[in-house]
Order: sequence, then structure tokens, then C-alpha cells
Amino acid sequence: METHTLRDFCQQLPKTELHAHLNGSISDHTLTKLMRRRHLGGQNMTSFEKGRSRTLDECFQAFKIIHKLTEDEESVKMVTGDVIKEFSQDGVKYLELRSTPREEEHTGMTRRSYVEAVLNAIRSPEISALDITVRLLLSIDRKNGAMVAMETVKLAQEYLLTSDDCVVGVDLSGNPKVGHWRDFYPALQVARNTGLKLSLHLAEIPGQDEETQALLELRPHRIGHGTFLKASRNGTSELVEHVRKLKIPLELCLTSNVKCQTVKTYHEHHFKFWFDQSHPCTFCTDDKGVFSTTLSEEYGIAATTFGLSPKQLWDISYNSIDFAFAQHDVKDKLRFTWNEHKHLILRK
Ligand code: IMP
Ligand code: ZN
Repeated sequence: METHTLRDFCQQLPKTELHAHLNGSISDHTLTKLMRRRHLGGQNMTSFEKGRSRTLDECFQAFKIIHKLTEDEESVKMVTGDVIKEFSQDGVKYLELRSTPREEEHTGMTRRSYVEAVLNAIRSPEISALDITVRLLLSIDRKNGAMVAMETVKLAQEYLLTSDDCVVGVDLSGNPKVGHWRDFYPALQVARNTGLKLSLHLAEIPGQDEETQALLELRPHRIGHGTFLKASRNGTSELVEHVRKLKIPLELCLTSNVKCQTVKTYHEHHFKFWFDQSHPCTFCTDDKGVFSTTLSEEYGIAATTFGLSPKQLWDISYNSIDFAFAQHDVKDKLRFTWNEHKHLILRK
């Protein structure tokens, strides 16, 4: 397929985005609005240098800068609305956002009011009118320790029952070098046992076999990255076998991994390893703002790197509906929408 035709195809393809961190997904346009609100002009943009490759540690520095711009409920609501609109413009029909409920002493924002701000944006008339279904996972940031992890799960449990099916699960994320899995295990176990869906960042960096093995015992519903599953100490191994046997879907973020330098090149991305074994995989952006990408671009990169046909891209997108954390009736509607688009875009 020619480049421009592929680009159009990927844009028109209905897509599910299952791994998007709210604050990492903020576009340049929205960052500029946030800086204007804080009377910062544009000067911080250059030091931030969005989109360039950086080490994993540098990525986490970038999140710190962004968090300084979203320290109150109004900005959290604004960025949530903008991020959803941008995903919708990119042809995303089902979006699972994830975000860390954050407390900011000097603005008075609490973890609860943070979640409320995100939900208010999702339920606003402007967003409800869009052709996109949005669900929310509450993230446990590894750096915040055991107590905050449990508090986050308690909030998620409460909203699971009271948010009209909007809050559906919990994510474990944050700098993989920080914190010990034993700190999060009890909270994740409570989440797993009380009906919340679990998506865990696993094996994002090498040398975490013990943690990966322990967290896999929780039978997560999906895995974020899983970059070093196949390179674990004992070769292609127990961890791979375990994930394969349980058919745990992988959320794969090509550009994020290459830009954070946990994967050297697109060609070396572990997508190929899993795809060749027909393991359930879905493409995601991770942090479309920080890594300057879109989900359509991720599909395009996968197609050119791995020689995927339009039909294969279609199948990956369609099959991703199976791994969504939404209710059955929502998934049925999504399948209907996909099938409505199918002959229009695959026939071209
Ligand atoms: P937030 O949860 O909406 O504030 O989104 C930003 C947060 O997502 C960061 O502070 C990290 O905790 C998490 N995050 C974003 N990208 C990654 C990643 O690649 N690995 C692990 N955590 C991540
Ligand atoms: Zn992530």
C-alpha cells in the first residue's frame, strides 16, 4: 500500500485504545492552553522538547513537568475533554483512559475530586455527543507505596458501583525501577477479588522475573508492554508459557518503547514474537502527547515494519474489542459499528 493510502486507511479504521495514560496523552495544543492559564507563555515547551527519544527515567521527569500543569480540578477536566476529543478525531471508537488519582495539597485537590473531575469531563454534553465510548481505570503509581495503592483500589471499588459502569478497573504503572511488588500485591489482590479488571505494566525493563512471576499469579486481565517476558532469565520460558497458556492480551506501544529505549528499533519490537504465535495483541499509544504519536500512526508503523496487510490491521483492531473491559452489550455495539465500516474501508 502506498504511504498516503496506508495513512488514510489507518485513520479511517475504527480503533480501540486500551492503554492511554491521561497526563501522558496531553497534546501540545492543550499544554499551551495550560501554560497560558498559568501565565507561563511558551518558554517551557522548548526545555520540555516533546516527542524526542529519552531514557525511561527522563520520561518520568517529563510526567513531573506535566503534573505541575494539572494540579487543580479545572485543568484535569479540561485535559480529559481535550484528550478524548483528539482520540475521537483519530478514529478511536472505544477509549480506556487510565489515570493516577492525585492529591495536591496547595490547590486542595484530593484523589476523590481528581476522579470526579475526570468523570465530569467524560459525562459532559460535549463529550457525550461524540461517537466514542470512554471507560476509566484508576492507576496505582509505584512511587506512592502500599497505602496509596490500597486507597486507590478502595476508590476504584466505590466508583465501580456508582459511576454507571465508567470506572472498570485498576492499572499498575509508574517507573518500573521504583517500589517493590510486595507493596502493591495486597491492593491488587483486593482489586482482583472484588470485580475490578486488572491491567498491569509487566516486564517493562529487564531483570524483573521475580516480580513478573508474582504479579502474574494475580491473573491480570491484560498486560502492558511485557517487553522482557521473552528475555527472562530462563530463556523463552515459564513466563512466556504462562502468559500464552492464559492467553493474557498484550497492550503493545511501539513508539513508546522505541522512544523510551527499552526496544532498540521498531523491527526488534516483541509484537512480532507474539503475533507470529497468534497471541492476542492490541496496539496502543501509551502517552500520545509525550511520544508525539497517534493510534493511527501506530497502526501505520506496525504495517510498514512488519508487512501487515489491511485485513490483518482490521483483524487486530476488531479483535481488540474482545479485550476491552466494557460490558458485553457495549462490546456488541462496538462490533456492530466495526462491521458497518468494514466494507466501506476494506473494499477500497
Ligand atoms: P497520569 O496517571 O494520568 O498522571 O499519567 C501519567 C502517569 O502514567 C505517569 O506519572 C506514570 O505513572 C504513568 N506512565 C505513563 N507512561 C508510563 C510507562 O511507559 N510506564 C509506566 N508508567 C507510565
Ligand atoms: Zn503505560
